[in-house]
Amino acid sequence: MADPPVSLPAGLDPDRVPVHVACVMDGNGRWAAQRGLPRTEGHGAGEAALLDTVDGALEIGIGWLTMFAFSTENWRRPRDEVRYLMGFNESLLVRRRDELHDKGVRIRFAGRRDWRVPRRVLRRMDESTELTEGNRRMTLTMAFNYGGRAEIVDAVRALVAQGVSAKHIDERAIRSHLYFPDLPDPDLVIRTSGEYRISNFLLWQLAYSELVFSDALWPDFRRRDLFAAVAEYQSRERRYGGLRR
Ligand code: IPE
Ligand code: IPE
Ligand code: MG
Repeated sequence: MADPPVSLPAGLDPDRVPVHVACVMDGNGRWAAQRGLPRTEGHGAGEAALLDTVDGALEIGIGWLTMFAFSTENWRRPRDEVRYLMGFNESLLVRRRDELHDKGVRIRFAGRRDWRVPRRVLRRMDESTELTEGNRRMTLTMAFNYGGRAEIVDAVRALVAQGVSAKHIDERAIRSHLYFPDLPDPDLVIRTSGEYRISNFLLWQLAYSELVFSDALWPDFRRRDLFAAVAEYQSRERRYGGLRR
């Protein structure tokens, strides 16, 4: 678990830090276009945003961070962009995993390991997971070739394959067959780039998450934007279908 924060920036309440924050890192292409650069430059510039967000989350004691890096629908993009994204994610792991390991971050990957993901990328993912599996300060889940619908389909398939009867399929059974059954539901989901949609992210888990939409394009996102989203989260009243307390 995360270290208890001593004092938090920007007037954040240390007793109401979200346990799990999930983030749709969007707007890389527009960031690049604004500068007359190819879209791939925007993805590259997203690395600094990712690392600063992780550091900010560590700073305020967020124990679970889930980042949407590549969706099951992103294969629809031009072949060159997909190829770039695969290589970029691989090189990012190679360049950054030791540093994340030193910070006590456990790295995991949620998504389908299908034939479209190059083998060497899968290998880097496995190496990073193995290297960091003993860490508990933060669990950083990278959603890669991830789709919320695919995850639910995969869970139901696994139940059927195990011969579980209809009357034993309940919410607990489905949850326990998601990619990471120990992943808490996100308290806070942040989407950047001024888009107001979920785009097939964590559909099961975000049933009662607080949603915060940021206008920042992902490469411009920094820990101050994370703190602003957490402050917004702390101003919300969560009711879970019940009445105000
Ligand atoms: C998010 O940025 C990164 C991925 C989806 C891989 P985009 O590439 O979607 O950037 P925009 O939305 O086109 O600006
Ligand atoms: C969501 O962004 C996926 C990731 C951030 C990896 P997209 O850019 O793919 O979403 P849409 O197409 O705008 O809904
Ligand atoms: Mg986008």
